[in-house]
Amino acid sequence: MKALVTGGAGFIGSHIADALLARGCDVRVLDNLEPRVHPRGRPAYLSREIEFVEGDVRDRATVERALSGVEIVFHQAAYQDYMPDYSKFFHSNVVSTALLFELIREKNLSVRKVVVASSQSVYGEGQYHCPDHGLVLPEARPAAQLDCGDWDLRCPECQGVLAPVLLREARANPAGPYGVSKFAQELAALRLGKMLGIHTAALRYSIVQGARQSFYNAYSGICRIFTRAFRAGRAPVIFEDGKQLRDYVHVSDVVAANLLVLDDPRADGHAFNVGSGRATSVLDYARILRQKMNAPLAPEIPGAYRVGDVRHTVSSIAKLQALGWSVTKGLDEIFDDYLAWLDSVPDAADYVTAAFDAMQRSGVVRRVARGKGSAAAV
Ligand SMILES: NC(=O)c1ccc[n+]([C@@H]2O[C@H](COP(=O)([O-])OP(=O)(O)OC[C@H]3O[C@@H](n4cnc5c(N)ncnc54)[C@H](O)[C@@H]3O)[C@@H](O)[C@H]2O)c1
Repeated sequence: MKALVTGGAGFIGSHIADALLARGCDVRVLDNLEPRVHPRGRPAYLSREIEFVEGDVRDRATVERALSGVEIVFHQAAYQDYMPDYSKFFHSNVVSTALLFELIREKNLSVRKVVVASSQSVYGEGQYHCPDHGLVLPEARPAAQLDCGDWDLRCPECQGVLAPVLLREARANPAGPYGVSKFAQELAALRLGKMLGIHTAALRYSIVQGARQSFYNAYSGICRIFTRAFRAGRAPVIFEDGKQLRDYVHVSDVVAANLLVLDDPRADGHAFNVGSGRATSVLDYARILRQKMNAPLAPEIPGAYRVGDVRHTVSSIAKLQALGWSVTKGLDEIFDDYLAWLDSVPDAADYVTAAFDAMQRSGVVRRVARGKGSAAAV
């Protein structure tokens, strides 16, 4: 069986590609080695057994070539960043997906299953409960509120502080360009798949952690950013007050989810959350990692925030669990595996500070008004 993994030179795609090789599949990877992810070119971890096509998922001729002879597609390539180049999110994430299905139909290709990488970002500010008004899907918090260091979500009816609930698949409400593009991408895939009779599933990953996460891009790299800062004797910066809740999942569990929906026809036509189902505050994450690394410096909480960040985001995993999937690795294993991997790769230059500076210059990172921020230590 021949499988195509788009974005297969990246973090998650390369692990999927390895798992497919281990199953005896012929694996082709289509990846443009996006310079913000791979400034040093083809990564050394990419198996030589993989047929590598260097090219862009937005390019018709390239995608047609990459699809030739393929039965299954894992569409992992995506543009993910905090930068305000809005149209790139849609070209890379949505148009590429439509193009895949367009070519499968037009050329009558042999693809029988497509699995698309979606994201927890389709939930935007998330799902909350108000004691008086029930379920609330709040809009993004206004800049004027965040500029005052006021981080809580409030009920639009009574202005009471809302309590977060686990994110359920049925209620997407994306806020920023990345989340909107990922929701549009999965809708395009599921609807076009149904129209054309191609089995299709979408997986909404939470924050995925593990070896091979790029050192270079600024997106979803909390483990990389914190470990590198602790190792360099610097204090990592925590945005907002650090009490925001997150959901971390090991890349091996994400790979298992991809293989499960590949094999299980009950997954066709559906989107599934892939997370831990467990809430971890950023403060707790930093505290546990700092203890593990024996780092002397506590993180700084300078009273800054990142435009587009959401407050609490923890997924319900009941829908995928009902198909037999389960979480096998927790935070301890996530840290142990990541630190072991860091020891095994040559050290890269410090791109974290440069990425932080770029976000500040473009207004993505902002400070709260003087006197309103907290500067507590972890
Ligand atoms: N890492 C996470 O925590 C996370 C969370 C939610 C969703 N996701 C989704 O999972 C997928 C994989 O993410 P990742 O963390 O492995 O990212 P990554 O950046 O490590 O890998 C993405 C790969 O796609 C390639 N790529 C980007 N644009 C391309 C284009 N136009 N043409 C061809 N290749 C292109 C990059 O070169 C890279 O190798 C993405 O779809 C992402 O949206 C990731």
